[in-house]
Amino acid sequence: MLTIRQSLAARVSDAISRVTGSDDNPAHVIYATKPQFGDYQANGVMAIAKQMKTNPRQLAEQVVAELDHGELIERAEVAGPGFINLFISNAYLERSASEALAAPEKLIVPATDPQTVVIDYSSPNLAKEMHVGHLRGTIIGDAITRVMQALGHRVIRQNHVGDWGTQFGMLIAHMEELQEQGESLSTELSNLEIFYRKAKQRFDEEADFADKARAYVVRLQQGDSHVLSIWQRFIEESLKHCEEVYGLLGVLLERKDLCAESFYNKELADIVDALDEKGLLTESEGAQCVFLDEFKGKDDKPLPAIIRKRDGGFLYASTDLAAVRYRCQELHADRILYVVDARQSLHFQQVFAIARAADFAPQDCSLEHIAYGTMMGEDGKPFKTRSGDTVKLKDLLEEANRRAEALISERDSDIDARERAEIARVVGISSVKYSDLSKNRNSDYIFDWSSMLSFDGNTAPYMLYAYARISSILRRREGEPSDNNRISVKETEERALLMKTLQFPEVVQAVGRDCLPNQLCNYLYELAGSFMRFYENCPILKADDEIRDSRLALARLTAETLHQGLDLLGIRTLERM
Ligand code: ARG
Repeated sequence: MLTIRQSLAARVSDAISRVTGSDDNPAHVIYATKPQFGDYQANGVMAIAKQMKTNPRQLAEQVVAELDHGELIERAEVAGPGFINLFISNAYLERSASEALAAPEKLIVPATDPQTVVIDYSSPNLAKEMHVGHLRGTIIGDAITRVMQALGHRVIRQNHVGDWGTQFGMLIAHMEELQEQGESLSTELSNLEIFYRKAKQRFDEEADFADKARAYVVRLQQGDSHVLSIWQRFIEESLKHCEEVYGLLGVLLERKDLCAESFYNKELADIVDALDEKGLLTESEGAQCVFLDEFKGKDDKPLPAIIRKRDGGFLYASTDLAAVRYRCQELHADRILYVVDARQSLHFQQVFAIARAADFAPQDCSLEHIAYGTMMGEDGKPFKTRSGDTVKLKDLLEEANRRAEALISERDSDIDARERAEIARVVGISSVKYSDLSKNRNSDYIFDWSSMLSFDGNTAPYMLYAYARISSILRRREGEPSDNNRISVKETEERALLMKTLQFPEVVQAVGRDCLPNQLCNYLYELAGSFMRFYENCPILKADDEIRDSRLALARLTAETLHQGLDLLGIRTLERM
């Protein structure tokens, strides 16, 4: 199965091949920018003409003459210096619509080359509780995961949690003392943030405690069973906090997706040996480092990636190198996506470059840092509580729920209190997720309650409301046959809406390629807009039987598309609001 765009590209490139006699002519097909330019435009002919040193317009004429229209293309015209405007036939649109209505699971067109895609996302440090810094990665990573799965890729989620390192020494030491004093650990650990702060304060202020903490790090790394068991207890407690947040957010991550930093311990010494064998290691001030030409710091001085510290300890980069190797060699990844804060971009550039140089990752495995910007408060500074503390994710999500409840209770409706509470929960979480997903992840992002909870614009409440509204139109037809899958488009708005729904799989593919979920949000927002224009211009329930049934079917297709699209973003729809 192919999308409209893929079918067009195939037809155009076949036509080019027939004209030029050469085989490899990937056609570049884009959406037409104005209705008079058709539905799509092919613009690859100009580049080929340049190569062949012929007149582009003439070449385009020849390509159009050779173009096999099939049922798909109504007509093709040359425009400007050598564009080809492509008009899709209504018959094709109508037939595709019937097929999609009969088998909605086919709305998404799977990738032609399914891959093994490893997605590293969320990956919080377990020493502290999840805070707003983990929100974007968790939400964006989860949406990308859903899209990849829908495209038929074999997806392996990896929650690369930070469960190792010097911070754990002080946490374990603090825990042990509390335990000895007979304190209830579960109460103490119920607020990890406070627990961490207490341990840190002691570490900073009490020399004895700090020594003990440092000794515990060493014992932990040596596998001392007493220290390990306390550590285990702490990790378990911290994971429960994460899982609570995952539950609230409705993300896919499960226990089996955990692949913690500690998992790679046993590999680290071998990573150093492997780098050494490749001649990549240099000793610098007692530390084992890799210097690569492409990384220069200030004053053009070579910038090292430290693999092993002077005291023998390993670093974040060492673990990541072991992780790349594992993902390539054991998980057989074709593509590895790291959904991680943009501020770690140098780290990943170095890890990727070293992994290539050391042959941990084969050339044909794509390593991609799916970076995202910082979450800012309304004041344009990194998002903090009023007192300047980091905001715990759990608190943030509870606030979302409270605000959504207030929003929903303002609206008149005959919905009972229980259902309203459920609606508020969905609206609250969806608003947080959607407002993040709808922005280009590369930019910093301003977290603003009032805009995310607005019913106007490209927001979750607007999208959920658009879906609920279509559902209510469809419900009004209850009892009468609603399984008509025949759509016939007569009005401009009908055709525009149908075209839009059938472009859904193209957007899903684009998100699979670029990992930019905002493309899907924009599409869904436009789709909802197309529906509103259709609804205003084409009466549904008042129309004559045949037209009414066709329009109802079109409304059903729209609802199905919105539902699937929101589902890919990890957003539940509501039948009424
Ligand atoms: N734990 C890290 C942090 O909170 C993120 C880990 C991302 N994944 C990775 N493979 N480095 O900053």
